[in-house]
Amino acid sequence: MNHFQYKDDILFCEDVAIADIAAEVGTPFYLYSTETLTRHFKAFDGAFSHPHITCFATKACSNIAVLNLFGELGGGADIVSGGELFRALKAGIDPKKIVYSGVGKSKEEMRFALESGILMINVESHQELEALQEVAAGLGITAPVSFRVNPDVDPKTHAYISTGLAKNKFGIPIQEALHSYQAAEKMSHIEIIGVSCHIGSQLTDVSPFVESLQKVKVFVEKLNQAGITISYLDLGGGVGICYNDEEPPLPAIYAEALEREMHDLGCTLILEPGRVIVGNAGILVTKVLFTKQGGKKFVIVDAGMNDLARPSLYGAYHAIKAVNRKNDAVEVADVVGPICETGDFLAKEKEVPVCRSGDLLAVMSSGAYGFTMSSNYNSRPRVAEVLVKGDVFHVIRKRETYDSLIAGEMIP
Ligand code: LLP
Repeated sequence: MNHFQYKDDILFCEDVAIADIAAEVGTPFYLYSTETLTRHFKAFDGAFSHPHITCFATKACSNIAVLNLFGELGGGADIVSGGELFRALKAGIDPKKIVYSGVGKSKEEMRFALESGILMINVESHQELEALQEVAAGLGITAPVSFRVNPDVDPKTHAYISTGLAKNKFGIPIQEALHSYQAAEKMSHIEIIGVSCHIGSQLTDVSPFVESLQKVKVFVEKLNQAGITISYLDLGGGVGICYNDEEPPLPAIYAEALEREMHDLGCTLILEPGRVIVGNAGILVTKVLFTKQGGKKFVIVDAGMNDLARPSLYGAYHAIKAVNRKNDAVEVADVVGPICETGDFLAKEKEVPVCRSGDLLAVMSSGAYGFTMSSNYNSRPRVAEVLVKGDVFHVIRKRETYDSLIAGEMIP
């Protein structure tokens, strides 16, 4: 359920007509619904009865207004860089609800995380552990650590967003992880507090999650036998959403499947959902510049692969709807952007509303990995982000200007 719905053929976000926002803000822009964000956060967080912290995956949608909303709802943040930590803190997220994942943390980033007093650093290699020990010792701080284990489970999703297979770069092979814990135990400035695991994104079936939790459970028992106890079990993110006709598990089903496995482990659960909370809470609004009939029908719009990379990068499907619906007429077309690459498309040979120059289109389900993956390619200023609440809208990120494109550049 989301709050982008037609009222008499006019697409609204909550109680605001989207065309009215476009008239004021210009196009393209990302648009989020407070009501949908809130509803999705609560549905996910409220599905768990076990003690837990919902640490929103900042990478999915990192605007500080969105992070602030989740913080107000009691959420924390899963971060993967110093930049995301900076955002989470600026948004008012409690550092004790921040967990830091990623295979390549720099020493500066480790220092920033330790000085900020975050809950846990998820370490992904022995060399990272040694670097963290060195940084922590230099600061005279003990680093709270979990190891990200790689359970070698197939999440059955797009290859680029599978993370828990042995051939993926993430984590420490689960069969070798005991050595890492034993090495960490001997380090003066490392405190072991957890185990973490993340197997991939856009999963539409709970069974890979259950399979990996079962493997992690066996591992935690092995740790206990070796005299190592943990307080946190971080199960990552990854629940999928419906872009087209997928049938992902509802949060309640996902939570029930995990909690059934985990009841006797005695630790706080950490969850890192991203897409399932924001994916269908945001859209990209774009304007038709021109249409043309070449070898096939092209609808040329003012948003391109630099604004929404998912179709080009993963062949991802995003439904495209008319903002002001004239009739139900559709045609098969490519919806393409202004970027000088053939791979620049938002839809390829898909049924889209018949439209003409000046029409507004809504690229649905773009709230996750939309703005955050956008770039300045072709020297295009990044678009505005807008948040609706009830019958008002707020620009939560201004459209970049030509001056912002060259800020920081200089001719020697
Ligand atoms: N935790 C960790 C350690 C992750 O690597 C990720 C996503 C998440 C949590 C959140 O996963 P989610 O709940 O959103 O599935 N750009 C791609 C998705 C990349 C996901 C990377 N990791 C896309 O647009 O599909």
